[in-house]
Amino acid sequence: MNNDSPIAILVTGGAGYVGAHACKALAARGYLPVAYDNMVYGHREAVKWGPLEIGDIADHAALDAAIEKYRPQAVMHFAAFTYVGESVTDPGKYYRNNVAGTLSLLEAMRDHRIDRLVFSSTAATYGKPDSVPITEGAVKAPINPYGQSKWTAEQMIADFCAAHGLRAAALRYFNAAGADPDGEVGELHEPEAHLIPLAMQAVTGDGPPMTLFGDDYPTPDGTCIRDYIHVADLADAHLRAFDWLDGNSGAHAFNLGTGRGVSVRQVLDAVERVAGKPVPHSIGPRRAGDPAELFSDPSKANRELGWTPKISDLDTIVATAWAWHRREGAKNG
Ligand code: UFG
Repeated sequence: MNNDSPIAILVTGGAGYVGAHACKALAARGYLPVAYDNMVYGHREAVKWGPLEIGDIADHAALDAAIEKYRPQAVMHFAAFTYVGESVTDPGKYYRNNVAGTLSLLEAMRDHRIDRLVFSSTAATYGKPDSVPITEGAVKAPINPYGQSKWTAEQMIADFCAAHGLRAAALRYFNAAGADPDGEVGELHEPEAHLIPLAMQAVTGDGPPMTLFGDDYPTPDGTCIRDYIHVADLADAHLRAFDWLDGNSGAHAFNLGTGRGVSVRQVLDAVERVAGKPVPHSIGPRRAGDPAELFSDPSKANRELGWTPKISDLDTIVATAWAWHRREGAKNG
């Protein structure tokens, strides 16, 4: 590569939902995002801002080859399985990919002397917290193998920071939602398990009426409260964490949320506003493992990273997700 070549950043899971938005943000800043993805859940059409290298994070030889080819300066690590329910019925799949896969990646980074890592973590590391808003120092007590796998990965990363001079930021997302405001990429989970896309599929008839999991929680309208954060705001936080690590060594964690709770009912009302018709749904029993109320204290990311969510108000999240859903629906006939 000559001196004019853009600096490469390895983006594991770059063909996935949050990873693809991060690739767009990296390219906008002049970096070359190299999407490294095993394509189990990734989408080829989501890789638009740099090359796609198909490989598994557990495959040392494939990782070595991609690193030798592009010489990335840093890694953004999104590759993971993320279905909470599946993690309960098939924990081995989650520990193998999210824990053993992360270990393989860390060893590759150590061997190639890549010393900066931004890691996609989750509020699921906290489990059912004693109180809200949740700060980074809250007890980590995951209640499912998915959350445990991410917390274990964070701990391994911290050990590699201590032993090998790695510098790392674990970004603990609350509820990632919305789609690229330019419509270039959005949420495409198969199967879909998240509230906003399920509500949209119910409205357009692309999916069955949805089930609202419990309206007897001790919250103002009886439905669960979550902290929805726009995926483009998440992408922006990754860029800021990457910059911040330039001047900060060691292992760090940041909550990424708005700090505001929104109920399931409020989400359905927002979908109804944008769609112009009600969301077909019924009230079902509570879903096992759902805490009544989860929202972040994002002040550490505000303070340290200079990050504040810009488009994470509920109506903007839902409007961008709706535009994406309509476009995908039109494409698929
Ligand atoms: N919900 C319904 N019906 C559905 C789907 C969801 O009522 O069909 C409700 C849930 O009960 C919950 C809210 O909508 O109250 C949001 O549910 P999601 O499944 O969209 O998201 P979760 O809050 O369960 O999960 C999110 C992330 C996970 C992460 C978890 C904990 O998607 O990756 O937060 O931080 F593990």
